[in-house]
This record gives sequence, C-alpha cells and structure tokens, in this order.
Amino acid sequence: MTEFTRISKRIGSIAESATLKVDAKAKALQAAGRPVISYAAGEPDFATPMHIVEAASRAVLDPKNHRYTPAIGLPDLREAIAQKTLTDSGTQITAAQVVVTNGGKQAVYQAFATLLDPGDEVLMPTPFWTTYPEAIRLAGGVPVEVFAGADQGYRVTVEQLEAARTPRSKVLLFVSPSNPTGAVFSHEETEAIGRWAFEHGMWVVTDEIYQNLVYDGQKAVSITEAVPELTDRTIMVNGVAKTYAMTGWRLGWMAGPLDAMKAAGNLQSHLTSNVSNISQRAAIAALTGPQDEVFAMREAFDRRRKIAVSELRKIDGWNAPMPEGAFYVYSDVSALLGREWGGNKINTSLELCDYILDAAEVALVPGEAFGPSGYVRMSYALGDEQLLEGIQRLQKLFG
Ligand SMILES: Cc1ncc(COP(=O)(O)O)c(C=O)c1O
Repeated sequence: MTEFTRISKRIGSIAESATLKVDAKAKALQAAGRPVISYAAGEPDFATPMHIVEAASRAVLDPKNHRYTPAIGLPDLREAIAQKTLTDSGTQITAAQVVVTNGGKQAVYQAFATLLDPGDEVLMPTPFWTTYPEAIRLAGGVPVEVFAGADQGYRVTVEQLEAARTPRSKVLLFVSPSNPTGAVFSHEETEAIGRWAFEHGMWVVTDEIYQNLVYDGQKAVSITEAVPELTDRTIMVNGVAKTYAMTGWRLGWMAGPLDAMKAAGNLQSHLTSNVSNISQRAAIAALTGPQDEVFAMREAFDRRRKIAVSELRKIDGWNAPMPEGAFYVYSDVSALLGREWGGNKINTSLELCDYILDAAEVALVPGEAFGPSGYVRMSYALGDEQLLEGIQRLQKLFG
C-alpha cells in the first residue's frame, strides 16, 4: 500500500512567518498585562487617510460593488496603477499589464509560480524578507542566498551575483528599499545589476512595496527605469499597504509583460478571483487622491529613524547602520554574541532576542528570520515615546 504523508511534504515544510510569530508572542504578553514594547511588526502605526476610508464607505453602499468583478482587477484601478508605475517607477506599462492581488504577498507568490519550473534557481539577496524563500520553494524553485552584510551597506554587488550564477539561475530578486535592512541601491548600482541580469537573459522579480518610503531626498530607482530593456523580463510587485497605511485592506498588484500577466491572471482566476471591490475602490482613492498625508507619514518615519539609530548607537557593540528607506533598522549585533548575558552564554541573535524579550520586555526579530544569525531587525513604525522607551530599556540592559 502506498504510504501517504498526512500533510503534503510541500506544504508541511513551510515555516511559520517568523516576524508574525514574534509579533504574536509580544501581543500575547501584552494581553496578559505585560508592558511589552514590540518592534516586530512590519506595518505603519497610522490610520488610513480619511479620504480613502470615505471612498470605501461610499463603495460599500453601491450595489455594483457587491458582485464579482474581473479577477485581475477593476479597469479603473489598473489604469491608476499603470499611471503610478510611470510616475514612481519611471516605466511605461498599460492597464492590461497589471494584475490586482490580495496584498503584495499574493503578488510575490504568483510571480514565482508564474516563472519557475522545478529546480529553477532564484538569486536572492540576503538578508531577505522572510516570505521570499517559502514562496520560491512552494513554486518548485530553489532560493540561492547571496549575502551582503553591514560592511557593504547590505547591498549585493554584480560580482557576488555572478559568483552565485549557474545554468539553472532563472530569476534575480531585486528589492530596494529592502525589508529587513532598509538599504536602497543607488542609480549606478541598480543599473549595473540590471545590465548584468539583462546580459544573462535572466528574469527579474522586483518588489517595490517600499518605493515611496525613502529619506534624505534620495529616490528608489526602479530596475526597469535604469535598464528599460529589462521591462520585457521583469515582474514588478507593489501595493498600497506601506505607503498609505493600508496593511489590513489587502491590496497589492503585479505588473509585467503581457504573457506573464495573462498566465498569472489565469492562476488567480482559480485561486482568489477579484480582490474585494471595497478595497479596490479605496486603492483608487489612495493612488489618485491627495498625497499630503503620505508625505507627513514619511516625515514621521524619517524623524523616528534618526532617533532609533542615534539611540541604538549608544549601546556598546550594537552596530546600527543608518537605513535609507522602509521603516526598519537592521543592526549587526555580532559583537554582543559569545558573551554572558543574564547569567547565560548567548551565542545567536535568536537567543539574544529571547533574552531581550524576557529581561527587558522588548520584542525584536532575530536575523535568523532573514538569513544568517548575528543581526536584529527593529521596526520603527511606532509612536515616538514608545520607540524611545524601548531603546532606553535596551541601553539599560546592555549598559
Ligand atoms: C518586502 C515586502 N514585500 C511585500 C510585502 C507584502 O505586503 P502586503 O501583502 O501587506 O501588501 C511586505 C509586507 O511586509 C514586505 O515587507
């Protein structure tokens, strides 16, 4: 008789999202009355701007939004996304090249499912967002880690990518600004990597969800803007979650060449069909309405970024590079490891984060969630007072 595993090997091997796990633990402790400060979640603490909420509330009263709509998204929204892609990503596409998804996360899954056959390799700059390797493996692909540490600003080079390339390398993952590091590639770096990918006939999956959260007057340059020839082999992933404080609305998208978008749309037509029409109408208001609140939120993040880094740098052995984008500080804490803290020898960033949560009631995500040990991620998307208090607890703990 055939031996079946109870849960399929494919799904059984997926790890729980480490960031959500730390955040859930912090929330459980808070619910039990503990004064835990959590830097774990990857979401803005602001409310969604009111004109977006009002558009959604009008949409909910309109019966035409109570029905199925095209699986790949409302034409008006896809038009607005094509316009945003031109404005913010410097890349001309048509509405037909857009598939609206349930958050950027679904777009990430569908991008890899659309491009990968079993054994195809994806060059994955590391530290990486925790979902990427799971999405790649689920699609049958092989994630290949290409590591860049704090010493190189967490930005991989063409030489490193070339050293990792094999005849099975089909896709390059390119994320700028990066989660978890906040690193932003310069125009020259982006162009060099894009040219290299183009010369080797590779596909690019580029995740641009943090493109509007860049500081110091910098701009996140899209790989297709730097190397327009790549547009025919690039899937762009994006969404409203981070820019418009809309994480709960579940609205993202993918954009790319027509054949890939047709295939991804076919997949989505069997998987989820259309995203909630209410969220789609809200997204139209977000993309086409006033952007002043986006600027105000970015200013607040910028202020918190500077507070977080300058306070963290007061801790001996805590190496906090200044992030240029997103809302994370990714610190190299290797100097704190291999030492005794709280009476126990602590060897990994996982153990360090457990110790910090127990001893200081501060939740941070260990580097193991994003690649090698030795790092911790702090999200600074929380109120100024809490932000400061949590770091002061760290200063006391390691002082
Ligand atoms: C790098 C990156 N891409 C995509 C997403 C997906 O965002 P959402 O599914 O909420 O749109 C996230 C969310 O944390 C992210 O950090």
